[in-house]
Amino acid sequence: MKDKQAMPSDNNLDLVIRNAEVVTASDRFICDIGVRDGKIVALGQSLGNAKEEIDASGMLVLPGGVDAHCHLDQPMPDGIRMADDFFTGTRAAVCGGTTTVIPFAAQEKGGSLKEAVMDYHRRADGRAVIDYAFHLIVADPTPAVLNEELPVLIQEGFTSFKVYMTYDDLKLSDREMLEVLDVARRHKALVMVHAENADCISWLTEKLINEGNIEPRFHGLSRPSVVEREATHRAISFAELVDVPILIVHVSGKEAIEQIRWAQGRGLKILAETCPQYLYLTAEDMGLHGDHGYEGAKCVCSPPPRDPENQKAVWHALANGVFSVFSSDHAPFNYDDPKGKKLGGEAQPFNHIPNGVPGIETRLPLLFDGVRRGKLSLHQFVELTAYKPAKIYGLYPRKGTIAVGADADIVLWDPNRKVRIANSSLHHAVDYTPYEGIEVTGWPMTTLSRGEVIVRNGEYLEPTAGRGRFLKAGQPEL
Ligand code: URP
Ligand code: ZN
Ligand code: ZN
Repeated sequence: MKDKQAMPSDNNLDLVIRNAEVVTASDRFICDIGVRDGKIVALGQSLGNAKEEIDASGMLVLPGGVDAHCHLDQPMPDGIRMADDFFTGTRAAVCGGTTTVIPFAAQEKGGSLKEAVMDYHRRADGRAVIDYAFHLIVADPTPAVLNEELPVLIQEGFTSFKVYMTYDDLKLSDREMLEVLDVARRHKALVMVHAENADCISWLTEKLINEGNIEPRFHGLSRPSVVEREATHRAISFAELVDVPILIVHVSGKEAIEQIRWAQGRGLKILAETCPQYLYLTAEDMGLHGDHGYEGAKCVCSPPPRDPENQKAVWHALANGVFSVFSSDHAPFNYDDPKGKKLGGEAQPFNHIPNGVPGIETRLPLLFDGVRRGKLSLHQFVELTAYKPAKIYGLYPRKGTIAVGADADIVLWDPNRKVRIANSSLHHAVDYTPYEGIEVTGWPMTTLSRGEVIVRNGEYLEPTAGRGRFLKAGQPEL
């Protein structure tokens, strides 16, 4: 037992976390962590007393997760509605050990990007319980957007933007992709690419529907790996042509991974992200063999989940450095909802189902279970879920590590806790999880955001909605 009275007490610390087994992307050490005004101000042995003390014995102490790809309260077309806003979405995030989120301010075709950002600020203000930055979605790269709006927005802290090669309301032509990449090159921003070939998908979709193949399970068949592989290769070629780094988001399997490895081997700066759905779901979860009925809609996302061989390839690529980022791609559509997965009713063909699966709270535990099973190291876990996302999206060193000067965004992680995932225990507003019933070992027990305990011993403490702050992103560190 330590004698608290014997310790120096002149630090004016707000909080000390004692006996912390700290794990960062590169180091592992045992120390006390001193926190003042929301920042880590000391890492040392036997730090002086503070107003509040937490004993971290038996826990791993990790930097709070950075979820660099999630969708919250994103304006949707055609009567579709996201179930999570910034309050419920960030509540679920922090209960899953994530302390920073980066959702998307999405431009509509014909609309202004700046307007989209202002609207998105209004949606986040007063609602978020943890800190957040915004990516942009560029859906209509007019000369005004390319030459006026984007350069100003980059200066203002929006240094990453996503472009789509599919979805009618979002997709860019090859020429438009090149224009956006060129702006990123000149202003040192990062383009994230959704790589699937739109024409192949619409051709396959039409064929399937004409043959009466309309159930959710046919979604996967309308977007086979070759469609993703071709677009991935094309995006890489554009990046090479323009001479700019890109990041390919939500990579689903072997074929796209091969393209990315090939490009990385040629010395191109091609970064990549994958997500829990490509480790834990397969086409069978969409009911590939006709056994799930409409329930398969719960797992409809794009690119679609593939097969166990592809899952294996994704695990390997997480361990061998192909991927830099592991995100949730949380897309919160209710299942039993005419504004969600049942848009238009169950008789509608699969291409009406809003794409995406929820997963903001389960992202970290699902990957951590891979650490336990020897699929990747603990340092890789931290690198993929916190350190690299913070670096790549211009939030480091404030976020993504445990170091003096960083925000005190800290997770006390119980590596031995077994949890069977159940939607009834999650904190999002979505009426299902695609991971229902999966048992994982390892769970975030206590989570702090800027030094404030938000979750204690698994209990969400109901902090003030709106305490989360907007983060201006700096230049991506690639
Ligand atoms: O199916 C997916 N991934 N939906 C979310 C939107 C996107 O493309 O990331
Ligand atoms: Zn996407
Ligand atoms: Zn997404």
